[in-house]
Parts: sequence; C-alpha cells; structure tokens
Amino acid sequence: NVLILDFGSQYTQLIARRVRELNIYCEIHPYHKIPADIKKFKAVILSGSPFSVRAEDAPHPDLSVIRGHKPLLAVCYGAQYLAHFYGGSVERSDTREYGRAKLSKIVENNGLFQNISTGSQVWMSHGDSIKKLPENGILLASTHDVENAAYRIDGEQTYAIQFHPEVYHTTDGKQLLENFLVNIAGVEQSWTPSAFVETTVNELKAKLKNDKVVLGLSGGVDSSVAAMLLHKAIGKNLYCIFVNNGLLRKDEFENVLHQYKDMGLNVKGVDASARFLGALAGLSDPELKRKAIGNAFIEVFDDEAHQIQDVSWLAQGTIYPDVIESVSVNGPSVTIKSHHNVGGLPDFMKLKIVEPLRMLFKDEVRRVGAELGISQDILGRHPFPGPGLAIRILGDITPEKVRILQEVDAIFINNLKKWNLYEKVWQAGAILLPVDSVGVMGDERTYEKVVALRAVESTDGMTADWVNLPYEFLQETSNYIINRVKGVNRVVYDISSKPPATIEWE
Ligand code: XMP
Repeated sequence: NVLILDFGSQYTQLIARRVRELNIYCEIHPYHKIPADIKKFKAVILSGSPFSVRAEDAPHPDLSVIRGHKPLLAVCYGAQYLAHFYGGSVERSDTREYGRAKLSKIVENNGLFQNISTGSQVWMSHGDSIKKLPENGILLASTHDVENAAYRIDGEQTYAIQFHPEVYHTTDGKQLLENFLVNIAGVEQSWTPSAFVETTVNELKAKLKNDKVVLGLSGGVDSSVAAMLLHKAIGKNLYCIFVNNGLLRKDEFENVLHQYKDMGLNVKGVDASARFLGALAGLSDPELKRKAIGNAFIEVFDDEAHQIQDVSWLAQGTIYPDVIESVSVNGPSVTIKSHHNVGGLPDFMKLKIVEPLRMLFKDEVRRVGAELGISQDILGRHPFPGPGLAIRILGDITPEKVRILQEVDAIFINNLKKWNLYEKVWQAGAILLPVDSVGVMGDERTYEKVVALRAVESTDGMTADWVNLPYEFLQETSNYIINRVKGVNRVVYDISSKPPATIEWE
C-alpha cells in the first residue's frame, strides 16, 4: 500500500495509474490531509505541483511522520520542496524547462536508476531549478541542462527526482518507479484483478450479509462490473434495474437486457420510453433536456425500488477519479465532487450506499470485468452519455428524430466494427442537426436532414481529438446512411478537437 501526497499536479492521477500498473495498490490524498493511519503505508510519493516552492502560499506540509520513517520518493515539486526547506536552494531557472531531456550522467551503484542508462529520455516540466541540494543530499543523476535532476538523502530512504517518471515520455519511468517501490521500499506486487475480486467479494459478503441491494444498470462498463461483483457476493439479493429511456442506441435495450440475463443477473428491464419522451416534448434547451431526463430517471427508479421489499442498500458504479479529493490550484482549499444534491431526496437515495469500484481506475474496472468473465462486447464498449441520443438530437426531440438518429448511429457503429476501427476509437456517434439542406434524388429536389459523424480518441474525455478515419470508410458509411435512412440527404464529419470544441454537440 503506497501513499501519494498530492500537491495539485495535473499528473498526480497518472502517478497512481503507473503504480497500479506495477500491481501495487496506492491511494491519493491531498498534501494537507496526511492520513492518520500512516502505518498502513509502506512508501510515500510526493507529486508535482503548479506552485513554486518560493511562492508565499506554496504547500508546506509537515512531513515529520514520513521523512526518515518511510521510503519516500519526491517528484518535481516534491524534490524542490525538500531542497528549499531543508538546507538547499531553489531558484528561478533562466530558461523554463519543459519537455524532453536526456539523462547525461548517472552516479554508479545507484538503486533508483538500476537498469536505466545514460541517454534515457525523461520529461521535464518546471520553472524553478534546484541550485543546491538539501543537507546530506547526494547527487544521483543529471541531464545536460539540469545538474540536480535526481538526488537522495544520506542516512534516509529519501529520493528525489526533478523529472516526471509517470508520463509516457519518460521512457524508463516505470522502471524507476519499480526500482523505488519494489527494490528500495520492498512493497509487494499483489494488487491483481483476481486478488481484488477475492477481497472485494469477501468484504461485500461481510458488509451486506442478507441485506437486499438495488442497482441501476446502464449497459456501460462500470455498472455492469459493479453488478457482477455484487452478484458474486450476494446472488439473488442484488436487484438490478435497467431502464429504457427511449434514447438508447438501436436495439440496445433488448440486446443488453438479454446479455445481463445470460450473465445470471437478477435484472428487471423497465421500458419507460413513453414517459421520457413525454417529459422531453417541446424542450430544446440542452440543460432543460438533461434535467427532464434526470428527473424522469429518478421517478422511474424510485417507483421500481419501492417494489422491492425491505431493500436497504443502493449500489453505484462510482470509480476512483470521481472520489479523489482534488487540491485546488487557486489556494489550499479543496473541492470534493459530489453527485447528489441534498434536500428533497427520493426515497431510494436515503438508502445506504455501496460502491464496490470506488478505488478503481477505468482500466482496472475493465480488467476486473474480464476476470469476472464479462464479455468483451460489454467491457470494450464506447462511453455513452446518460441522456443518450437526447443530446445528439440538437433542439427538440420527436420519436421520428430518435428513429432517424438510431438508424444512422447503428450504420456508423456497425461499419466501424466491420472495418476493425471500433476499438481504435474512444467514442463515436452521430448527431442530428436541426438543419434541412437541399438535395436531389432522381429528378426531385429534397429538403432533408443533415447528420454529423463524430469519432474521437481520448483517455478520459477531458481532452480529445478527432480520429483520422480513412476516406474510403467515410465514403462507404455516408453512402449507406444516405441510401438507407429515409429523411437524411447529407452527411458531414466533425474535425474539431476538445478543447476548444467538446465531444458532444450540446
Ligand atoms: P463533452 O461533450 O463534455 O463530453 O466533451 C465528455 C464526455 O462526457 C460525456 N457526456 C455526458 N455524460 N451526461 C453523461 O452521462 C451528460 O450530460 C453528458 N454530456 C457529455 C460525453 O459523451 C463524453 O464521453
């Protein structure tokens, strides 16, 4: 178990993911909330930070319970922090050092750099430089521009590096983390999907006993994996509800419901399409549409949950990025993401909450899902927004528009699969524009709808770029759509990145 103290770096989660890739469990905590049960951590990593250690409001936590007691790896800001506050010096660099650099010197007999050679590429991102090492500091490595690129502190298991081992551009970053965590700190590499499943199922059994649990399935990866874990722990006491809001992909409700039943889940499919479409009638503002769908979902789910006698838990597919307390860059305050508003909660929200995936990253959820035997068809699917096609039909929604978009979307997605492109794309879908454009079919002029196709690559949806799909693919897809979907006479492809655009159009 490894503690990562976050100083607000954009890369903190990446450190955690790299550590987890080494099959080592780790937790991220804000720098000013060092966990009281520090004993349970075998090693500590200090993250980078947007702050300069020389700034007045720079994070300055008391590390006395850690330093000298636990193996410590200080990254970037962490390395500067140790230098600045413990007898060394940090100054503004003449040139800001961003991007690639190469290790030009590595001190011999250096456990941190075992199996790493000079010439290895590292990624720098800092405006300050360590000019003088802290007390008892011993230089470990340099780059051409940065003399003090890595050091350790004599008499302690304290190591510090100026570059970022967590980013992919640091070629031997994972090796360095392994050297520190496994060789130096002696942490066990026992965080595997099968170990997670075993421990979690046992914990769920102990926690839930004979209680009944209700869970809303969405067809997505997270809720499906959460359901299978709970199913393994409590079997029929897990009551799953899968709601058709009428805004899912074509045939999705029937297909996915069928798959869930095959997986042995105790699942009830609820077709509430009419209710949702009724609630949406006449609305064209995107936020009002989202609200209407959110409220309709709560009503439907509440009705269904009431039909289960004596249910006491609500299970959710919350994952780790949703629960990490983030360090605010604009001051030492913290913000915690919260999913629910207080006050006026529907009954089901008063249930106790169980979140079996709350310590997992998305890629780990997939690996756990595979361990549980969930099909690739479910684990590999693209993210799909909760409000579904409603936010891909720009403007107001009618059953006819839903039908058109479902047809177009199905052709696009199936063709991506046929061309083996589906897995190379992070998310794809079609958007129905509120525009009639002129066309000609036979000798007739037509005024019909325009659809936009969108396919992006991304890792977390926060930033994204459009995918360079082959022209032949686009040509074939466009032909299929225009020839087969009545009401559409024009297809365009969205070539905007996020930022400044977003993935969805509203
Ligand atoms: P944007 O459009 O913000 O999308 O670039 C980023 C990711 O979030 C999804 N998305 C939503 N998901 N409810 C959801 O559950 C929403 O209202 C919503 N809006 C966008 C989007 O599909 C993409 O994966």
